[in-house]
Amino acid sequence: MKVNGIPRQSIWVHPQNPEIIQIIDQRQLPHEFVVEDLRTPEDAAVAIREMHVRGAPLIGVTAAYGMYLALLQMSREGRNAAWLASQAKMLGDTRPTAVNLQWAIERMLDLVATGGPNLSQMALQKAIEIEREDAGFCKSIGENGVKLIAEIAARKDGPVNILTHCNAGWLATVDWGTATSPIYHAYDAGIPIHVWVEETRPRNQGGLTAWELGQHGVPHTVIVDNTGGHLMQHGMVDMCIVGSDRTTYTGDVANKIGTYLKALAAHDNGIPFYVALPFSTFDWTLRDGLKEIPIETRTPDEVKQIRGWADGKMTTVDLFPASSPAVNYGFDVTPARLVTGLITERGICEANERSILNLYPEYAPFA
Ligand code: MRU
Repeated sequence: MKVNGIPRQSIWVHPQNPEIIQIIDQRQLPHEFVVEDLRTPEDAAVAIREMHVRGAPLIGVTAAYGMYLALLQMSREGRNAAWLASQAKMLGDTRPTAVNLQWAIERMLDLVATGGPNLSQMALQKAIEIEREDAGFCKSIGENGVKLIAEIAARKDGPVNILTHCNAGWLATVDWGTATSPIYHAYDAGIPIHVWVEETRPRNQGGLTAWELGQHGVPHTVIVDNTGGHLMQHGMVDMCIVGSDRTTYTGDVANKIGTYLKALAAHDNGIPFYVALPFSTFDWTLRDGLKEIPIETRTPDEVKQIRGWADGKMTTVDLFPASSPAVNYGFDVTPARLVTGLITERGICEANERSILNLYPEYAPFA
């Protein structure tokens, strides 16, 4: 997608030095566009843990490049297999909920297991493959999902009002995004749309979504997280599209905290609630999302404080009494029964085991 008219991805190999991976430091957006260099696996781990990069697919791609940086360091410093395993563990321990992280690390470890004379070069090629694959999948998600928006547009006057939560945009993937890809495809096809962007406290990823949509010219309005239900009750939302950090093969969806409440409100008001995700976000080993998906808890400081832009720089201010305890769950699980459908790179399916495995039959033996 474009930033100030220039095509950009969220992660790329340094054009002059393939030993450096570059990312956008998303903590500074939407106020500053800062490019950061990753030179070591530790850099990649910090970038994921501290959320310089975030969003399930991008976390996975960053971890794949982190493994490449580990293999480079291994050949440079003569490290052994145990050290490489410790680097894989360091990367894998950064964030617990997004399954794309483990998926990408395992793909890189499978490559390492094949041996070969120039493993770091092979790892670079594999990480680039994972990066390009993600961009391609997200594009396909958009091509499949745009039909749902077109169907609603065909039967109403005025724009299709789409509600989204968190940032499941191109900043959360490599390009296009998951939930935003059908939105960008609809806008580019001339379908009249308007997006309700939820702020997504405590980290306000809605600011990233608003920035992305603004860069592309998509009409949108920012709302606080508690507004969605009110809008749905008053016929101001035609459909919801969100992303996912991990979806079971039975269709339970873990996504940013607050997603479940929007799915409940959508269900109560008869509004379609779609989840957009690539196959790397499915967990083919888990049946019961509520019981089995690990939910990240982050520092209470993110709840008790807020970061923002003042006087030309990022500033943090206190919101609550210093003595009040706070808890900060990063994600919740929306049960499959509240999900109208899953928009994937292979097509749209229902959120149930039969329909999901019908799209992905090769994963059935693992289920
Ligand atoms: O904590 P974050 O910002 O990494 O959470 C991101 C989300 O919950 C997204 O909605 C999800 O990863 C889908 S991204 C395409």
